[in-house]
Amino acid sequence: MQIHHHITPLREALRGERLAGKRIGFVPTMGNLHRGHISLIERARQSNDVVVCSIFVNGLQFGKNEDLDKYPRTFQDDCDKLAAAGCDYVFHPDDREMYPNGMEAQTRVICPVMTDVLCGASRPGHFEGVTTVVTKLFNIVQPDEAVFGSKDYQQLAVIRRMAADLCMPVQITAGETLREADGLAMSSRNGFITPAERPRVVQLNQSLNWAVDQIRAGRKDFDRIQREACQQIEQAGFKVDYFAIMNSDSLRPAAAEDQRITLLGAMFVTGARLIDNVSVTLS
Ligand code: PAF
Repeated sequence: MQIHHHITPLREALRGERLAGKRIGFVPTMGNLHRGHISLIERARQSNDVVVCSIFVNGLQFGKNEDLDKYPRTFQDDCDKLAAAGCDYVFHPDDREMYPNGMEAQTRVICPVMTDVLCGASRPGHFEGVTTVVTKLFNIVQPDEAVFGSKDYQQLAVIRRMAADLCMPVQITAGETLREADGLAMSSRNGFITPAERPRVVQLNQSLNWAVDQIRAGRKDFDRIQREACQQIEQAGFKVDYFAIMNSDSLRPAAAEDQRITLLGAMFVTGARLIDNVSVTLS
């Protein structure tokens, strides 16, 4: 596995792969890799000859009061896991390589409307940081396919929209959310859950599944379902950030006639904010 910290040599190496007719798959990450990330590498491996993973904790997508400094940096451990998973290239730039003119002066990519809601509403500027860094990473790696986790459903939807709107020649693929035995979605932020909270945090996933069952049973009073789900999460002892029933593609509030619906929730534990989602297709 080759490790690159600079853009030029990585580009040269990948140019060689492309000239040899190889299809390139890409998994962007911020490191602190868990089994969920490794499943994205495996997913990229299935349909590509070469797999590239980036590890870059992107300051541009963190708000002033967010956890940039405490975000775990576990580079050597991440590389061991990537090598074992059959990753071919790791791209691990520093801030100067990615933002040579500083983050303030960096040209931005904005995907409006879709980023005003859900996580975008509670994390102003977050998605602008994501779309900007992902655009840069796409331009550096020039992948045929990029795989993003479904756990960050809004991020996946925003990247899909951005790639379509800007005619980016890359296929965006959704990787499945991996879960712990009780249903908790795997996340780098699960390390912030306290032992006392751990047995109860699965309530977010349980309330999402409960709401899906209500919708499958024919309920269309989405506002009321949302309120009831929020009450369940609050009764389990957590502050709800949002619980929303949305159209899967537009991320606008779902209408009674919508067939593809995604339910998304976010709640606060002591040291972090956890998110999860479940999608349902009605016929
Ligand atoms: O999902 C993440 O880890 C990040 O948002 C991403 C896509 C790597 C961009 O920094």
